[in-house]
Amino acid sequence: MKIKHGVWRKVLVVPNLGLVFKFPLPLVRVRTLKKQNKTYLESRGLSHFFCLVLAVIGFVKKAVAMNWREFIYYRKSLHPILQPTYFSFLGLVNIQRYGETILLDSESNHNSQFTFQMDILFHGTPLRLYSDPHHFKHSDNFSFRGDKLCMHDYGEVHVQKALDLFGDMLYQNYDPNRVVSFEEWCDNS
Ligand SMILES: Nc1ncnc2c1ncn2[C@@H]1O[C@H](COP(=O)(O)OP(=O)(O)OP(=O)(O)O)[C@@H](O)[C@H]1O
Ligand SMILES: [Mg+2]
Repeated sequence: MKIKHGVWRKVLVVPNLGLVFKFPLPLVRVRTLKKQNKTYLESRGLSHFFCLVLAVIGFVKKAVAMNWREFIYYRKSLHPILQPTYFSFLGLVNIQRYGETILLDSESNHNSQFTFQMDILFHGTPLRLYSDPHHFKHSDNFSFRGDKLCMHDYGEVHVQKALDLFGDMLYQNYDPNRVVSFEEWCDNS
């Protein structure tokens, strides 16, 4: 059992149960909040503190909404590329199937192969019109189920739009056994 830290959620990972529990606890950096809204800098004392509290509440609300959207999207779509979200208690906690995330170790073959293959599969598609392409390049958002790709971070609207368009293509075409050479990647990405 361990805790993983996402930008929006803290995730309690329990491989023995085959489940993860996602809590809407975003990573809030006070410095970033100050930069985002200059009135924070101008305000002082209680009102300054109050502004920060309001901003933190705003972030938590966004994380709750993300959890809830993830659950609803899974229920509506049931696409096999999605790691099933079995249950959500109004977005305050989501229960999702566990999948071992694709390694981020730079020595790992999977990691460079993952990036190479994603670049090739999305080459020529208008992915960036629908989603932050980096979301689909972070292997930490994916695992394998058998020889199929599985995504577990799909709470954001733009990610869901991209999945509506490219989910089938990704599910059908991603091949964990394919070996992409550096030259092939250069030519096709
Ligand atoms: N179903 C799952 N199985 C295994 N690990 C998971 C699962 N869901 C999430 N994790 C782990 O928890 C981390 C954070 O989860 P997730 O990406 O869903 O949260 P987030 O706050 O939306 O993240 P981000 O930082 O990408 O915005 C993931 O990077 C992954 O390591
Ligand atoms: Mg993530």
